[in-house]
Amino acid sequence: MTTTYSQVCQDIFVSKICNKREGHFLEIGTCEPIKNNNTYLLENEYNWKGILVEFDKSFEEKYKIHRKNSVYIMEDATKINYKKVLDENNFPKNMDYLQIDLEVTNKSTLDTLILLNETVFDEYKFATVTFETDIYRGDYYNTREISRKIFSDRGYILVFPDISDFDDKKKYPFEDWYIHPDLIDNDIIKKLKTDQSLNYNEAIKIINDVCMSERDLYRNFINYLKDVDINNFRTHSVFNDMLEHNGPIFVDFAKSWLSNIEELNMINKEQMIKLIDLNDQLGNPIKEKITDSIVSVPNTIKYIYFGLLNIKYLLEKCINNFTMIEIGCGYGGQCVILLELFKIFNINVDKYVLIDLEEASNLQRKYVNTLIPNNNCVFLTNENYKKHDFGEKKYLFACYSLSEFADKTRKDYYDNLINNIGSGIIIWNRETIDLPKKFIIEEEKPLTGKYNKIVYF
Ligand SMILES: C[S@@+](CC[C@H](N)C(=O)[O-])C[C@H]1O[C@@H](n2cnc3c(N)ncnc32)[C@H](O)[C@@H]1O
Repeated sequence: MTTTYSQVCQDIFVSKICNKREGHFLEIGTCEPIKNNNTYLLENEYNWKGILVEFDKSFEEKYKIHRKNSVYIMEDATKINYKKVLDENNFPKNMDYLQIDLEVTNKSTLDTLILLNETVFDEYKFATVTFETDIYRGDYYNTREISRKIFSDRGYILVFPDISDFDDKKKYPFEDWYIHPDLIDNDIIKKLKTDQSLNYNEAIKIINDVCMSERDLYRNFINYLKDVDINNFRTHSVFNDMLEHNGPIFVDFAKSWLSNIEELNMINKEQMIKLIDLNDQLGNPIKEKITDSIVSVPNTIKYIYFGLLNIKYLLEKCINNFTMIEIGCGYGGQCVILLELFKIFNINVDKYVLIDLEEASNLQRKYVNTLIPNNNCVFLTNENYKKHDFGEKKYLFACYSLSEFADKTRKDYYDNLINNIGSGIIIWNRETIDLPKKFIIEEEKPLTGKYNKIVYF
């Protein structure tokens, strides 16, 4: 669970919904730079950049120290030329977060919103908004109703009205949280939207359920990968839990994968040992006795088995001279095995594209290039793959990855890539299959997760 710095988890709301690094915010009414601040987490952990607006000049020194990524304006929030500031700092028209948290009783909250509506909202949109109405204190200047009308006219959806805090069981509704449907997946908005006034903990629970974030799911793994040692990475527990999987359960799985390989009868034992030796020579893996004659890492056997399933499918469908695409590639072991199998089966691959988070992608580049120096691999990240020219004929493999990503990420892959891929195999590890393609399902054997399926399209 991510640590919040906000008063009532506004930073969790924004980070979960936007689920990105390098975002942009406009924070009006900043106050303290760290504690009770809604953008410190975003700036500090996800490298966001923003504009901090605060009237009390005594905070300036603290901003200089703690908020180096952001621009700060120490002026009256109702009198700032926001459009000029956003334009001059080259902020994107699609911003990620707007906070207005001023003082309802002196009308600065409402006046600032009216100013933004008149000068900024024609051009700039915000994926998420938290707007403080302080309605529990009384209805000052009709702030809540007028603000709701302004946001609604601009297309924003009020997902959590009257977010409240509790004190001795008394409810204090004080803030509205909005999302802009042009910038955030509408399925997510539908699942979140409520008409009730929720306590912020209830809202965050719903958000957590709906928006499982990759950065959370893979956080420890990514942190470990930042300064990974190519000669020693496979023994580390964080890495092992995410990818390598040693221990008796996985040794049993490996036995089953081995018998699947034998059943497929596509490679002989010598070829298999060569593949094992190749993939087990780098990263100092923990090898285990799988059978009397085979000592290896369980996952290497899995890569050979799934590698062969892909070869079989490619041969059946007569696919040759194409772009091989893998999404969520771990350390690159599957790629190494598949490159060798393509040679054995005389399959010509124009290029092998690996797509992953930046940190994992860096490891894959080192790993694959060390084991197979002259390869035709292209290492892309989840951020830059959209700009790549994948060529005409494309085939996909994704194993325990695409299906477990957050809904929005998976949908992005569908829209930007998978809809244009002819065929492939996805090893699916969640209950519902929402692949927007005609597909057939096979049981995963051995079943490594409750809902797992092999999906062919
Ligand atoms: C559980 S691992 C599976 C790795 C590998 N396919 C295997 O079977 O061993 C999930 C992989 O998905 C990657 N991943 C996480 N988020 C991603 C994203 N948004 N785009 C691409 N890959 C991502 C992780 O870094 C990791 O490599």
